[in-house]
Amino acid sequence: MIPNISDIYKEYFSIGSAVGLGETGIGVTDPIDSLSVYPEEILSVFNSFTPENALKAGIIHPEKEIFNFAPVDKLVKYAITHNKELRGHPLIWASQLGEWMKKGSKKEIKQLMEDHIYSVMTRYPEIKVWDVVNEAITDEGKLRGDSLWYRAFGGFTYISMAFEIAHRANPNAKLLYNDYNFVKPQKLDAILRIIDYLKLIEGYHLYGIGIQGHWHVDWPKVEDIQVVFDKLRTLGLKIHITELDICLYKGQGNVATLEYNSFLDTVLAARYVELFTLFKKNADIIENVTFWGIADNHTWLNRFWDYFNHSKEFRQNYPLLFDKNLKPKKAYYALCSIGEYL
Ligand code: GLA
Repeated sequence: MIPNISDIYKEYFSIGSAVGLGETGIGVTDPIDSLSVYPEEILSVFNSFTPENALKAGIIHPEKEIFNFAPVDKLVKYAITHNKELRGHPLIWASQLGEWMKKGSKKEIKQLMEDHIYSVMTRYPEIKVWDVVNEAITDEGKLRGDSLWYRAFGGFTYISMAFEIAHRANPNAKLLYNDYNFVKPQKLDAILRIIDYLKLIEGYHLYGIGIQGHWHVDWPKVEDIQVVFDKLRTLGLKIHITELDICLYKGQGNVATLEYNSFLDTVLAARYVELFTLFKKNADIIENVTFWGIADNHTWLNRFWDYFNHSKEFRQNYPLLFDKNLKPKKAYYALCSIGEYL
């Protein structure tokens, strides 16, 4: 029997994973049905799940009048039977959109946003937390200009529209803004401006912030992450660490494929212990920590070479808690006994 990590952390935060649900379509290179590939013994150590791709607009809403609800329906059924929390990700994002979505006039895009958010959220009242807007800001701290949503409305308008529709669709849902690279000061400043903007407008209900944890073994420093947590704490916002994985190639392309060995196993374990020590210290504001996958056999990082190159080529990476043969790694055991390290 492996120890149950989410039980061990239950007084601090829930612990989740992204799961594939057999979905195919735009941006899905390696389809997987996690609920059948991973044995119940492994699934049972997580008490929260996020669909990896099945809720992305182009997948769940491939044509104007067609919704592909079956994959998420399956997860919701599983979650009800097994008493798991669910996170909805993402409602409004620039990527993985249906081609048909890109053709509309401004008026049609407004209607699309309304129909999309409303249909998806009302279908799933069991999903109580939603990443309403994903990745609106570039690393330079500018609004992402290549976004269909931004191009239609300009400024922060589409962001507040999305929150307003999401709140109407499920007034009890926790609504989050989700992004990566919060430790880049210009990016954090821009996200704080979004928060200010959303708070100014009554009824827009920003509950919290999703911090994607696509991090490396040596970056970012925990001190720099702490600065971000402190800023968000003063604003009264809750935090979800939404997409945690540690790239052993440090995000670089020009590095030969690594063989996993006991040294790397220890380096990864030490990094995860350092991060979870930080998360525990900030458990007053952190509600959920979600890994972006379960085991190294299925991770987007196996096809991510550097920031400019999402390759089609496979390069084995080792970012998760279970190895590619589904065995728990040193990091898993270390996190389960973190009290012994502190
Ligand atoms: C972003 C998205 C995720 C996922 C990852 C990498 O972080 O938010 O849904 O697509 O990229 O695949």
